[in-house]
Amino acid sequence: MKTVLILITIFLSLILAGCTGQNGTPTANSKAADRKIKIGFSMDTLKEERWQKDRDLFVKRAEELGAEVIVQSADGNDETQINQAQALLLQGIDVLVVIPHNADVAGAIVDAAKKENVPVVSYDRLIRNSAPDLYISFDNEKVGEMQAKYLLDRAPKGNYILIGGAPTDNNAKMFRAGQMKALQPAIDRGDIKIVADQWAKDWLAEEALKHTENALTQNANDVVAVVASNDSTAGGVVQALLQKGLAGKVFVSGQDADLSALQRVVAGTQSMTVYKPVSQLATRAAEAAVALAKGEKPPTDKTVNNGRVDVPFIYLEPIAVDKDNVDATVIKDGYQQREAVYKKP
Ligand code: GAL
Repeated sequence: MKTVLILITIFLSLILAGCTGQNGTPTANSKAADRKIKIGFSMDTLKEERWQKDRDLFVKRAEELGAEVIVQSADGNDETQINQAQALLLQGIDVLVVIPHNADVAGAIVDAAKKENVPVVSYDRLIRNSAPDLYISFDNEKVGEMQAKYLLDRAPKGNYILIGGAPTDNNAKMFRAGQMKALQPAIDRGDIKIVADQWAKDWLAEEALKHTENALTQNANDVVAVVASNDSTAGGVVQALLQKGLAGKVFVSGQDADLSALQRVVAGTQSMTVYKPVSQLATRAAEAAVALAKGEKPPTDKTVNNGRVDVPFIYLEPIAVDKDNVDATVIKDGYQQREAVYKKP
């Protein structure tokens, strides 16, 4: 009996030794093992449909892994996002996942988390001029290239309108860089002309509507394509085209595979969207966040410089979608339901 007791004591002390550092202080691993891992998820907005899917899929995977997620949405306000992140840090989170409203302002959030030794994941959008532990996103330049290339293949000559996204969003700039990469040779040849080049504050459809209306008026409706950077702005563009009787005649791009956008795609008023399998992003991000909380290094694909450091980057592939492959992609994945996409308005 005595031997058994001694063995149990040795066994228990070995376990405890494994959970503490050399000086007996708890390590990150033991902190996470003692109780449920707490993840703070600081979101810019839940306005676009995709972000609701991001939230739900992220929380689902994190909970499967035994973690708890506290979600906050800043409704597109920088100050709110900073305050919410500070409140999350006060609640003793083990890792902070941030979708920044403003790429530069959110650097302050990373700095605050770092002071508390809380690792940070930059989710979908890169946070600049700070040192996040991880960046996970799609190839955003490729998204822009896909949008412009699709339109160029169908409208190789004529006047183009460019509608960029929120100037505060690093992604919006990457989409534009990709779009220009595809368009520049055709511009240089004189085949196409950019007659309007605008950005939609906070990705608002109203902004895209206003810019498109103005550009159409200024060019006597002589426009062959509108490079809209996402589906919400494409919605504003199509509304402007409808008012002029041009919907379905002018090529329009988009991004996100939002339900209303896919309905426009099958109806022929929006030419394409770019589908970014959000389930991959949300799942991989939740897994990486849990790993970081445990003090582990999640596997990454490459690094990306954010103006201050090279941030380890998990890189995912976007897919161009139009009415010919919507069934084989977005619907097959269960991202949107077939009946809803083809529902007559
Ligand atoms: C971008 C994101 C897009 C789009 C947009 C508006 O950063 O990559 O998918 O949704 O924000 O929220």
